Amino acid sequence: GQKADFVVVANRLPVDRVINSDGSVDWRTSPGGLVTALEPVMRAQNGAWVGWHGAPDEKLEPFNNNGLELVPVELSTHEIAEYYEGFSNATLWPLYHDVVAHPKFHREWWVEYKKVNQRFAERTAEVADTNAVVWVQDYQLSLVPQMLRDLRPDLRIGFFLHIPFPPPELYRQLPWRNSILRGMLGADIVGFQLPGGANNFCELVRRQLKLPVQRHEVTMPDDRRVLARAYPISIDAQGFAELAASAPVQERAAQIRRDLGNPSTLVLGIDRLDYTKGLRQRLRAFGELVSEGALSPSDSVFLQVANPSRERVEEYRRLRDDIDMLVGRLNGNVGTIGHPPITYLHTSYPREEMAAMYVAADVMMVTPLRDGMNLVAKEFVASRTDNTGALVLSEFAGAARELKQAYLVNPYDIDGMKEGLMTAIQDSPAAKTKRMKAMRKHVFEHDINHWADEVLRDLGADL
Ligand code: G6P
Repeated sequence: GQKADFVVVANRLPVDRVINSDGSVDWRTSPGGLVTALEPVMRAQNGAWVGWHGAPDEKLEPFNNNGLELVPVELSTHEIAEYYEGFSNATLWPLYHDVVAHPKFHREWWVEYKKVNQRFAERTAEVADTNAVVWVQDYQLSLVPQMLRDLRPDLRIGFFLHIPFPPPELYRQLPWRNSILRGMLGADIVGFQLPGGANNFCELVRRQLKLPVQRHEVTMPDDRRVLARAYPISIDAQGFAELAASAPVQERAAQIRRDLGNPSTLVLGIDRLDYTKGLRQRLRAFGELVSEGALSPSDSVFLQVANPSRERVEEYRRLRDDIDMLVGRLNGNVGTIGHPPITYLHTSYPREEMAAMYVAADVMMVTPLRDGMNLVAKEFVASRTDNTGALVLSEFAGAARELKQAYLVNPYDIDGMKEGLMTAIQDSPAAKTKRMKAMRKHVFEHDINHWADEVLRDLGADL
């Protein structure tokens, strides 16, 4: 086929497979912000997306979906267990999130991680045209930039880390620390969510690899320069606002409130079911407020949605059991007939339903222990088109650096969270509106297009 001038490489393809009733297979574009932002660029630029299609042991040929050229990378069951569930999500994920869970170091996982990264690099090298721009995404593929450069020195390569990059003292635990740093340095641009992540990276490059770093520019032994800096990611703010303001979503929001018994206070949480999200602490804070009588179970409801995630990884299974138990215990202790204060849903919803929940809520709680950015916080803000509602936000979410007018809390401090939530509930409507307006202004001025433009400009993609 025709070669691509612009290639995105990510662990997952931006599509979900749907099986129709007649057994035929369709691919539905997943609603992620990255695809939304890059779709126009990819169409204009003769782009391609390289990634895993989500099914084990299945080899698929490249195919076109809605004008997007998709290049599937196959993973065996064994590779999924060791590269994806193991090294990516039981080693790097907890290590990069400040070791809020214990990272596991297994040499066999590392072998598979290298092998799979090499496959992604090879597949990319095959589809990229001469002098193409390639943009590699996230921690699952940190070796791809250098592997790709070895295969194709003509390419312009970017790497973006969507999760935090940890302080040197934590990162240095990793037995393969220098290999991963070298892998990332294969890129021309290494992007992070926050300046702190870029600083941690530069500090490690200096200390571990003894390479000179000046003003966030690393000089490689062959004189090549690598720029490491922050590009805080965002959302399609306009798209979310329009969806939230639409009649069906507004009606659905009213229905959700009715179904919950028209509470005077509806507190909302929406997270992937992940131990970084601070769910245990959040539930405890809310439970205590109800049992102490600060909130009444007959007119306060906490709606918590947890999207199933990485269910074969041990820590995630344990978390699911813990949350099931905690919700059951709290509802059993503080609920009354017809009024369980916590409505807990372990499932995923389409964008429309998420938007309806954002509109229905009085207060949104986003209280991760550590989070690269957290786009749910930005989506909530974009959805509040009438400038009402309050956001309780963890200081340890990347989004806190931008959404300064949120009610900021330390998620480890249960009393502090209780106070933050009560303030968010009891503040005057005028005070809440003032905060919401300021946050909306920021999110609309720094949306996903702004983000993509900045990265692509630095990558030298002429668009
Ligand atoms: C985080 C990561 C992404 C990942 C997503 C969902 O946002 O930064 O790279 O795709 O979680 O996790 P999953 O393991 O299902 O891809």
